[in-house]
Amino acid sequence: MSTPRQDQVRATLDAIINSRTSQGLVASGMIDQLTVDESTGEAKFTFLLRRDDPATLVRQARQALVAAGLPQPRITVVDPTGPSKTTHGAPQSAQAGVPAPTPMEVPGIRTVIAVSSGKGGVGKSTVTVNVAVALAEEGYRVGIMDADFYGPDLPRMVGVYEKPVVQGGRIIPLEAYGVKLMSIGFLVDRDAPAIWRGPIITKVLQQFLHDVDWGELDFLLADMPPGTGDAQLSLVQQVLVSGAVIVTTPQEVAVGDALRGAKMFERVNVPVLGVVENMSGFIDPISGMRHDLFGSGGGARLADELGVPLLGQVPLQAGLVDAADRGEPIVVAAPTSAAAVILREIATLVRQHVAAARVSLPVLE
Ligand SMILES: Nc1ncnc2c1ncn2[C@@H]1O[C@H](COP(=O)(O)OP(=O)(O)OP(=O)(O)O)[C@@H](O)[C@H]1O
Ligand SMILES: [Mg+2]
Repeated sequence: MSTPRQDQVRATLDAIINSRTSQGLVASGMIDQLTVDESTGEAKFTFLLRRDDPATLVRQARQALVAAGLPQPRITVVDPTGPSKTTHGAPQSAQAGVPAPTPMEVPGIRTVIAVSSGKGGVGKSTVTVNVAVALAEEGYRVGIMDADFYGPDLPRMVGVYEKPVVQGGRIIPLEAYGVKLMSIGFLVDRDAPAIWRGPIITKVLQQFLHDVDWGELDFLLADMPPGTGDAQLSLVQQVLVSGAVIVTTPQEVAVGDALRGAKMFERVNVPVLGVVENMSGFIDPISGMRHDLFGSGGGARLADELGVPLLGQVPLQAGLVDAADRGEPIVVAAPTSAAAVILREIATLVRQHVAAARVSLPVLE
């Protein structure tokens, strides 16, 4: 027999529409073994989330119950279709035959943002570090996870080379410029990860998400390796990524690669928040004239193609490389430089687009 509390929980969950079935979560048969503690109101249930269901539904369910004045529910997410061969559109696990886990939220981390690109060397790490520091300067709690295991640049870019301490079985992240940091570069020799393959990458990523003591974070930025390899797939399979920022340079060829990278995020229901065009011309510091060394307009074309905003065009900045090599992000080293000003604007836009995506999710789906 159901109690009024159970009815309230059911009604709240059923008001969330699954776009696959066009029905509420209860009517879609996604809520199983629901129990509600009558004294605390805490709901406990199994969420039957298929691979082709929007993974954001779990978060929506949690938020809707909290918004209805109930405590955080205890949700066990299960894929009722069982271990999948690769369903179309779903990410293929590098470990053949191993089911891809359903992405979950990491307790304490409000937003995970992947910074990605099609090609290497376009400025992902530069954008990640500077956006992170800018958000921290605005007062947000921010972390950077260097998910580029084959080329971990974070230690160098922030000038931190210590080994993190392990306390009570948890890794304490290092910190610079008010941002918490984790990189494989803090833990092993630079060349060691070169021989790593999918399963190890997945395991390390899991530890970075769950065994690092991030505390409460408003934003965790993941600096991705170029392309759509194991790290991208592992990340989107393991954690609910709130959005991806795609970095490109202005050239046409970079744009094509970036488009393929962005499509991968879309396929797995990670919204692309916008495009950053980096190395976007050179502004002559003396004449103030802009020179488009690498062509122009690639970022705008990519944003257009994806139907997402162009978050900003960061010019080639004299002194940026030297500052980065000294471990100083340009927003700190030269806060009034054109690149720093734009990177700070980009940080604000990213934060606003994340908030907008979060608010509009229940309406869109
Ligand atoms: N706007 C810019 N002006 C001048 N130099 C820049 C700019 N953006 C990035 N750089 C420099 O270009 C190089 C590549 O940038 P970065 O390491 O951020 O790219 P990446 O996409 O992370 O590369 P990888 O794919 O190797 O991880 C670095 O030396 C960086 O300091
Ligand atoms: Mg990088």
